[in-house]
Amino acid sequence: MTNKPAIELKNITKRFGTKVIANKNVCLTANHGEILSILGENGSGKTTLMNMISGIYFPDEGQIFVNGEEVIITSPKDAFFYKIGMIHQHFKLVDVFTAAENIVLGIDDGKYNLKESTKQIKEISEQYGFELDPEKKIYTMSVSEKQTVEIIKVLYRGADILILDEPTAVLTPQETEKLFAILRRMRDAGKCIIIITHKLHEVMSLSDRVSVLRKGEYVGTVETKNTTESELTEMMVGKKISLNIERSDVKDSEDRLVVKDLNCFNREGTQVLHNISFTVKSGEILGIAGIAGSGQRELLESIAGLQHLAGGEILYYNPKTGSVDNLRDKTPVQIRDLGVRLSFVPEDRLGMGLVGNMDIVDNMMLRSYRKGHSMFLKRKGPKDLATRIINDLEVVTPGTNTPVRRLSGGNVQKVLVGREIAASPTVLMVAYPVRGLDINSSYLIYNLLNEQKEKGVAIIFVGEDLDVLIELCDRIMVIGSGRVTGTVDARTVTKDEIGLLMTKTIG
Ligand SMILES: Nc1ncnc2c1ncn2[C@@H]1O[C@H](COP(=O)(O)OP(=O)(O)OP(=O)(O)O)[C@@H](O)[C@H]1O
Ligand SMILES: [Mg+2]
Repeated sequence: MTNKPAIELKNITKRFGTKVIANKNVCLTANHGEILSILGENGSGKTTLMNMISGIYFPDEGQIFVNGEEVIITSPKDAFFYKIGMIHQHFKLVDVFTAAENIVLGIDDGKYNLKESTKQIKEISEQYGFELDPEKKIYTMSVSEKQTVEIIKVLYRGADILILDEPTAVLTPQETEKLFAILRRMRDAGKCIIIITHKLHEVMSLSDRVSVLRKGEYVGTVETKNTTESELTEMMVGKKISLNIERSDVKDSEDRLVVKDLNCFNREGTQVLHNISFTVKSGEILGIAGIAGSGQRELLESIAGLQHLAGGEILYYNPKTGSVDNLRDKTPVQIRDLGVRLSFVPEDRLGMGLVGNMDIVDNMMLRSYRKGHSMFLKRKGPKDLATRIINDLEVVTPGTNTPVRRLSGGNVQKVLVGREIAASPTVLMVAYPVRGLDINSSYLIYNLLNEQKEKGVAIIFVGEDLDVLIELCDRIMVIGSGRVTGTVDARTVTKDEIGLLMTKTIG
């Protein structure tokens, strides 16, 4: 192992087309035996910069040094030659293959010995503390198991420099702790770990140093032990910002959605919702807390008309007509035709929410086109809306005609949340709306939700950050294994009480 920096970037610039400068003159150093965090607002160029080290993009200007030697990296294969491996946010695994098959895929032109490989995979697992069954098929795995496969795949190829792009965005707090323990062990074994995350407490607890980017430019690097969360925020945003959620009181509220005894089975025939009952009133935010995969998704999808129910009622109290309609087993179109103004920000943004290959305007039209009766789709209204969302939510994009998949992760999310709120809902359901968002944008979203609440919208907020649930919501319903384990007043409850309800078993 050399004493030279594992990675050194000198004056790296990367443009996309003529309008976007994703990275401008960025200099950065990462050492062996350290964990370096990369911090920056959405669209500040973090992923692009790392993609140049891992051979996905090639810089327009600048130099890359590995262990002190200048290198030219034009493909992921080149990156592997220099022992660099990147774990992307969207995994690239073959579902029907086993973990071991995925790990060896693409090496040695297929001339591998699976038995020998499995033995090596077990050795790597033992060395760093992974829990992985090499024989398990990918499609039966949880997100965190799939991530484990991706990491071992990179280690199996001998990576000394590991880059992880927002690895904790999809993990539970417990899974995150396990991952961090592994990363620390790798660091102690001399590896260079570079991690992108938006969560400041993770930066503080995990990394040795932090490098900050702002609008594509390098701001500086600090040692974690000499900095604070508010100093990092200021470096990122360029000014001091307050991180406070202004919760208003619930006023003049009335029942909007009354859910009774919902039961639901998944495709494999396992019961995923058990007798779920609750009420959401106008002008309140009902939080839903629970370990990931406890039925949150199925619950929201049931209300949105996307799940077949085995039992129960979903009653909508229409504020305009005074009528009460049962939404059970209605399609999303039937629900809308009943006059229900329901907005839904699902967990899966590109997929259920937006269409990546379409531009921002077309994605606005996806939601509104059935309203018009004209033979020709009018683009003016949606275009104005797109422009408004870009301004209000500070979406980083060259224009309204940019395909959504070209936007950075956090900016995709802003477009979706903006569109759903613009539809003037009476019921707004949001699942993990700030996942992947930077601090500034997260608070923008919390404030938007509060504004909606004050307008009398009934809001269901599925979240994972207990501090935020407690600060933002009025009541919090906790679910565990598809059952309601308790509903508490957010103004008085403690984190520990919610934690206990999350793991409580009933039934
Ligand atoms: N393939 C591409 N074509 C055009 N523009 C791109 C492309 N990839 C990234 N960009 C643009 O480059 C800029 C930086 O994007 P990047 O994905 O690196 O940001 P990021 O810091 O990773 O943001 P986030 O935290 O939201 O993931 C953004 O303005 C983005 O829209
Ligand atoms: Mg990114």
